[in-house]
Parts: sequence; structure tokens; C-alpha cells
Amino acid sequence: MFFKTSSAAAAGVAVGVPATAEAAPADFGRTTLAYPRKRVGSASAMKVNEVVSFMYPDNASPCALIKMGRRVPGGVGPDGDIVAYSTLCTHMGCPVIYDGQARSFKCNCHFSQFDPEMGGQMICGQATENLPQVSLAFGSDGAITATGVQGLIYGRQSNVL
Ligand code: FES
Repeated sequence: MFFKTSSAAAAGVAVGVPATAEAAPADFGRTTLAYPRKRVGSASAMKVNEVVSFMYPDNASPCALIKMGRRVPGGVGPDGDIVAYSTLCTHMGCPVIYDGQARSFKCNCHFSQFDPEMGGQMICGQATENLPQVSLAFGSDGAITATGVQGLIYGRQSNVL
């Protein structure tokens, strides 16, 4: 009797719920935030190895735009060599400074270093996370626009507050 009832109930469930009815919640699988789009520079005005500072995605988040002079991961512009990063060290939030000789970001607090030619990869030091890379778009007018951030900016639970 038990099996007969259970079978009937199971059959009822199977018939009553088509496979496509298991819709995910509206935000299921969402991996991006509602980042603002912000013009942060012009490709024609940039010189190799020089930093253009800007704030993104809000005025409490310092970032640096750099033209590396050779194509790099995430690079935009005519030569695919313009990248941008948060300049808050992922260890404890000290400001990192770009060293044009070493072509790396350095943190003077505990000496972490990050490689802007390798997606902000940590080279050495106390940090355990890469430097968050700012996603960029390149417009036909030469404008460089920030569109998002890959990686969590130091001290935040969400990059967009
Ligand atoms: S805050 Fe940068 S290494 Fe510690």
C-alpha cells in the first residue's frame, strides 16, 4: 500500500512539474554588478609608462591607467596595451605606486609587488590576491572608458556600494 501511494504521488509530481518549470531565481548566476561607465582617459594623450590617476567605481576608490607599450591581457586601445588597476594594495589597503623602471606596482607598507602586464598578478610580498583590474572599453573617438572591476577592491564586500 505504501509503495502504491508513493508511486502514485511520485508520478503525480513528475507529471505536474515539467523539467523547464524549475526556473532559477532572477539573480541566479549573476556575476556582474551594475558598474557605472566612466571616461578615464584618451588613448592619443597617453605616453608609454606614464600613469593617469582616476577614481572608479566611486570617489573612494583610486585607480591607475597605464599604457604599457606592448599588448597585454585586458589591454585596450589601438595597440592593446592600455590597462588600469585599483591602487589599493590587496594586503591591507595601502596605496601601491607604479614603478616605471621595474614596470610593476609596489606597496611600501609590506613590500608586495604586482605585475600590470599579467593582469595585476601578485609577484611577491604579503598580499595573497592580485591587484583588481579595471575593465576598459575603447571607443572610436579614442576614449578609454572604465566599465567594471575584476577582483574585489580592498576593504569592500562589494565593489559597487
Ligand atoms: S598593505 Fe601592501 S603589502 Fe601590506
